[in-house]
Amino acid sequence: MIYMLDTANLKQIERAFDLYPMAGVTTNPSIIAKEKTDFLSHLKEIRRIIGEDSLLHAQSLGRKAEDIVEEALYMQENVGGNFYVKIPVIPEGIKAMKMLNKKGVKITATAIFTAEQAHIASVSGAEFVAPYVNRLDNMGANGVQVVEHIVTLFKEHQLDTKVLAASFKNVQQVLHVALAGGHSVTVTAEIMDNLLKHPMTDWSVDQFVQDWENVYGEGKLVHQL
Ligand code: E4P
Repeated sequence: MIYMLDTANLKQIERAFDLYPMAGVTTNPSIIAKEKTDFLSHLKEIRRIIGEDSLLHAQSLGRKAEDIVEEALYMQENVGGNFYVKIPVIPEGIKAMKMLNKKGVKITATAIFTAEQAHIASVSGAEFVAPYVNRLDNMGANGVQVVEHIVTLFKEHQLDTKVLAASFKNVQQVLHVALAGGHSVTVTAEIMDNLLKHPMTDWSVDQFVQDWENVYGEGKLVHQL
């Protein structure tokens, strides 16, 4: 399973790409709007930070297929690199996916709440589908189960589309998506940190350092002895 960062915050992206095995960045219009900057130059800056090969997902606006297609082509041309256009699974979005698929544009179907939506997006040419785990959980539904159903559908029907589970609020949801066979997740910077955090790990490291320094001196590393 690969990890992506669900943010447009440049500092968070820089830090996470420096520390963690990040495969890419996902954004949506709400995430970009939070940064209150020029949309295109912001995406270009994200591209500069993460490099040409990392996946960058940005959402097409518009409710008509033709508008969605135009936005997608414009963004792909201007942002470049390993670019994915996110398209919501509304009927006009599905039409846009079919059109963009023919043009060789890579598609992530988004705003997915059912396995049926994911299946239709897949046969319309989406490379990724993004089910919203926490938004499902918040409605009293079961986000992880929807991911499980999508993974099973894709396996049973030999579809190459990958699940990019999104909308997480805690590490438990991420774990269960991984156990369900999700191919990728996109998480906030905070959840990415929390996936590694454990007080016993910190305690153990402190203990190692203390035991070492008691004998070899404060701040001493092996190569400095
Ligand atoms: C990513 O594709 C989604 O837009 C995002 O994860 C939604 O997350 P939220 O439910 O926390 O807004």
